[in-house]
Formats: sequence, structure tokens, C-alpha cells
Amino acid sequence: MTTTTRIDAPLKVTGRARYGSDHNLPGMLHGYVVTSTIANGEIVAMDVAAAQAAPGVVAVWSPFDPLTLRTPSTPILGDTWVPLQDRSVTHHGQPVAFVVAETYEQARDASALVEVTYDERPARTSLADNLDLAEEAPPGLDGEPSTQVVLADGVESIDDALAGSPVVVEGRYSTPTQNHAAMEPHSAVAHWDADGLTVYSGNQGAFVQQADLAAALDVDPSAVHTVNPFVGGAFGGKGRTSVPAFLAAAASRALGRPVKAALSREQVFTATANRPETLQEITLGADRDGTLIGVRHDSWCSADTDRSFVEPTSAASRVAYRTPNLAVSQKVVPLHIPRTTFMRAPGEAPGSFALESAMDELAVALDMDPIELRLRNGSLGPAGSDLQWSSKYLDDCYRIGAERFGWSRRTPTGTRDGDWLVGMGTATAVFPALRFPTTTEITLRADDTALVSVGGSDPGTGLLTVMALLGAEALDVGTERITPRLGLSAYPPGGMSGGSTATASVGSAIVAAASAVLEELQSLASAPGAPFAGQDVTYADGRVLGGGRSMTFGELLSALGRDAISAVGSSGPGEELTKHSFSSFGAQFCEVRVHRWTGEARVSRMLGVFDAGRIVNDQAARSQLRGGMIWGVSAALHEGLEIEGDGRLANGDLAGYLLPVNADIPEVDVHFVQHPDTLHNPVGARGIGEIGVVGMAAAVANAVYNATGVRVRHTPITIEDLL
Ligand code: MOS
Repeated sequence: MTTTTRIDAPLKVTGRARYGSDHNLPGMLHGYVVTSTIANGEIVAMDVAAAQAAPGVVAVWSPFDPLTLRTPSTPILGDTWVPLQDRSVTHHGQPVAFVVAETYEQARDASALVEVTYDERPARTSLADNLDLAEEAPPGLDGEPSTQVVLADGVESIDDALAGSPVVVEGRYSTPTQNHAAMEPHSAVAHWDADGLTVYSGNQGAFVQQADLAAALDVDPSAVHTVNPFVGGAFGGKGRTSVPAFLAAAASRALGRPVKAALSREQVFTATANRPETLQEITLGADRDGTLIGVRHDSWCSADTDRSFVEPTSAASRVAYRTPNLAVSQKVVPLHIPRTTFMRAPGEAPGSFALESAMDELAVALDMDPIELRLRNGSLGPAGSDLQWSSKYLDDCYRIGAERFGWSRRTPTGTRDGDWLVGMGTATAVFPALRFPTTTEITLRADDTALVSVGGSDPGTGLLTVMALLGAEALDVGTERITPRLGLSAYPPGGMSGGSTATASVGSAIVAAASAVLEELQSLASAPGAPFAGQDVTYADGRVLGGGRSMTFGELLSALGRDAISAVGSSGPGEELTKHSFSSFGAQFCEVRVHRWTGEARVSRMLGVFDAGRIVNDQAARSQLRGGMIWGVSAALHEGLEIEGDGRLANGDLAGYLLPVNADIPEVDVHFVQHPDTLHNPVGARGIGEIGVVGMAAAVANAVYNATGVRVRHTPITIEDLL
């Protein structure tokens, strides 16, 4: 296992890293997005005369005079909404106009002069009040139908299985709308020249932006150059190309000048997209020894009126536990709310809050240790599938975790420390191991260094450093000789930072590219007239060997009179998917202290033990998991977007949208059990980006119950719940 400080760290901590909106071009204009002040209705008229006449204003676009944009569609993300194309308003804060001026302040001030007349209709914003509008959700990304029933032989229905169970627990859980709240608000700088369009905009994949922008602007992808520079957080919220990128690109084309557009912090909450609100009903039936007999998990989630994204929470119950009888359903309720999208562990995070809370309730009903209950029912593979997990060491995670955390000191009713009620909780985390087709290019250079390039993104995950480590390993040279390159659409496609896929995807492609470039190197080495002409050559330690002599690849290239040679290699999911199921696992632990008089809940200790295959960079991996677990505490005790009946956000800014600060977070202990999963990919690494958040909210809620005896079935858990 390697521990390497991120190679981009010095640039970031010294402020030299340039993010999208840090780019300033000669003659650049500034755009400001105008957003709707109703949640449902039609725009009947827009008076932009005053804005157009305001100082410095160059152009004002609206649905009555739109910038032409088409709707892009990609396989994973589906359709991406583009602004200004229609007069209907489907949520409060929807982009409805774009004002471009010489300076940012002029554009912002003029935007306040845009007068919009609406034909307003009542808005539907409450999930709980609109369950009658629920629709069956489409199949998930894994192709599984959203409603599934698996029954043991002779069992008629899930209700029969549950009714026949000696111990039954039942609960209704809810989780709120959440926003990614990445530190860097969405922004873009765009300009056109003879080569076409160049856009600087932080995103989860330069090649994805290139495809989106080419489709939206109806130009050939080869004419679109996306630069995906340093990215200040993404978390699923920068998977789709953003409103500023579409508008800056189209406005720059129309005006023939560079245009910068950036959302304000408040606009990020309404003009990007959020994690849906969820409502979940779970019934668990078990034998007296804790063996599950039946699991029922019915979920509803909110969505915008285009149903952009479904939060697949019931899927959590397909993978975590083994049960002879299972029924899951997933419904979606279209509402007049900001768009919904992927956010860190989409489905798994809120789904496991419900399932892992229910498992804790079952342990209480059985008077059984919650870890023992989980180990007894460990899954061998997804429900309804014949394919077992390729590798699963969750039991080890629990054993090691219990020891490290001092679980044996836990009592069923917590302990006391003066006025503080102290409890411990645990939960299982499961997140699928995925990868996407990826191509990388490796260039060997005569100075004995090598370039490793892919068009993906490092939104703070550490992918850039992982590329250096895996490139060095594949070429059998020191890391200092590798220059990893990410973030340009000019590089080969792949390496999107989404779905916790990047290390497995890019790593596998690096293995393929290294093998291709080394094969090329060896055939050049032994060609007629070359230093190893006619000899059998091999490659090791960064050197070509043959006939008792060896040369570094750089020396060989110099001898051949070549500056560099390059090769691409591709890898993607394949036959392994017909043989096994793949997932990462984790056991999470938490200690919570609740003040007996004030109801204040504070997390005092946290531990996560993870089985995620091979860990490539220990330091970065720990940071990833620590960040995920902190997010879980945030979900449990802080975060939630409140959408009013008229569609306005009550707390759509960082003053009202609570996030934990340093004082809320204790030491976070992260531990890995390392079993490389080479059945999944040649590198053996499974995803670690998202699993950290998965079980944490339930672990907190379970610790709160252990401390206080109060079962809170919603997040965030607030003081009012504990008084
Ligand atoms: Mo992932 S939802 O792209 O963080």
C-alpha cells in the first residue's frame, strides 16, 4: 500500500490552482442568470427594455428571444435540461433570462430590472401530500426493475411471509431534499475562435461536457474543446453540464466575444439539481434467532416535473441482506421543485438510513446484538441474482471494527457521563463496484519520463495522483517520472468521476495502454538496425533487456532518434459481469452524546472499516472515506433543504442550509481490510468515493436510540426530536 501526498496539493494550498471562473480572457463579457419567482405557471411576458438600456449591458436573452440550445442526451445521465427554451416554469428559481454586460456587477444590477409577468398556477411541493400522484419508477441504472418480488417456494405473498414471522418490525422513514453544496459554485468561461469553442468549466468529465455542448449547440464534437480544470467539489452535482456552461457557450457564439457565467451560491440551490426527498416504508420479519424471513421496502421520492432523476432507495434492500422473501417497490412523485439528480451514493445513502435503522429496530425487538444480527443475515449476492459477490469481507470489517471501537462496552440502554447520555450505533455500508469504458494514452519520452492522459476529472478525489501511482506501476518506474494529465476533452474519453468508478476504470485502461506502449517499444528495440536488432527482448524495471544488455526506455528512444512513442489502451466492463456481482462493503460505528436537558446531540467518535478491494493511495483513500463519513453525520444531524408550499426554498443558502463545522466532527478513524478484487478489474481496486456516506446516518440514529431510547425515523435529527 502506498501513501503519497497529492501531487496537485501545492497548487491548491497556495492558491495557484485555477478553477473554471478563474480564467479571464481579453474582451471577456460577464453573464448573470435571472431566475423565476414562481414555481408553476407560464411566462406571459417579459419586459427587458430597462435591462437592455442599463449601463454596460450587451445582450438580454429570454424564452421570447432565446439562445438556441438543443437538449443533449447521454446514456447514463439521460436528457439534460437546457435553459430559456420554453415559457413554462416548473420550479421556483428556474433560470428564465440571461443578462450579459461588460462587468459582473453591471450584469447583476441589470438583471434586477428584468420584469417577468407570469400566469401562475398552484404549486405542488410536498412529497407526503402528493403520494396519490406517485408513478412507478423506471428500471434502475443496473437494468433491474424498480418493483421486484422474490418469494420462497410455497410462499404466496410477501404479506404471508411477514405475517408468519415470529418477530416483525415496521417503520416509516423519511429523508429530506439535499444539495451538493460544493465549495465551487457552477461556472464557465467560453470563447470561440477558428478552432471552434473552448469552455473552461469544472465538471465530472471533460469528454462528457464536450458531448453535451456539441449536442446543445448543434456542432461537431471535434469543434468543442472543454477544459475541466481544478474542480471544487462535484458529488454528482457536476455530472451534467451546467446552466452557466450552456449559456456562456451560446452567448459567446452569438456575441463573438468570450463570456463568463457563474451562479451565485443561492442560485446553486435552484439552478442546478438536488438529491430528492424520500419516504420509505420497511417491514422486516425474522425468526427468534434473528434469521430474516421477509423484507419489504416501499419507497417514494420527489422529482421535478420532467422526472430527471429517481432516488432508488429500495435497491438498498436488494443487496445488504439475505432473505428468502423480498418485495421492493420504487415510486416517483413529480413536483414543482428544482431538478433532481445524482448525489453521493444516490439511493444507497437515504435507502440505508431506512434499512439500517430498521435492522437496529429488529435487533432491539429480538434483544440481540445489532452486529450479530447483521452477520447472521449477510448477503451472498443481490436478491434475485444467481451471481455471488466476487469478494466480501464484511464479517472481518465488523470483527475488526468492534475491537477497535470498544463495542463490547456498549450496553443495550447506553451509558451516562454526568448530564450526557452516551450511546453507540452501527450500520452496514454497501456500494456497488462499477466501472465505465475508458481509454487512456501513455507516452514514453526520450528523457525517461512518461505522460498518462485521460479526459476525466479530479474533483478533489485524488484521481490525478492515482494515475501517477498506477502509471508508475504499469511502466515499472518511479512515480516521479510520471506526469498524469486529466481534464481536457483532447485526451482520450473516460475517467469520469462519478459512481465511484474512476480508479477502477482509469487504472484498467492504464494497464492496457502500458502493455500496448511497451509492446511497441520492444518491437522497435528489436527491429533491423535498432540497438537490440534480431534479439529477444523483455522489459523490466523501466528497461529494455536483451542479449545481456539493457537500456532505459529513454535511452532506447534516443538511440532510435525518437522523441516519444505513444499508445492508447481501453478497458471496460465485460465478461466478468456474467460471473460475479461486485460491491464494496463497510462496517460503520458511531458514538453519540445527547445532553439530557437540552437535547443537543454530538457525535463523539466514529469508525469505518471498509472492504473496497485494493487501496491504491492510503492517504487519499482515508480522506475520501473520512469525508463521506462526515457527510453522513451532516445528513443525520444537520442537512435538509426546506421547500415551502409556494416552491421557495426556506434555507437555500449556506447560512440556512446547515453543514457540520470542525467543532461538530471528532476524530474519524478509517481502516481498510485489503483484498484486491482482480475478478473485477486488473488493478483490484473497487470504488471508495461514495461508500463512506452510506451507513453513517443510520449509525448516528442508532447511537441516538442507544443513548436516549428515542427512535427518530427521519433526518436530520434535531433537538426537538430529543426533548
Ligand atoms: Mo457521484 S453521485 O457522481 O458523487
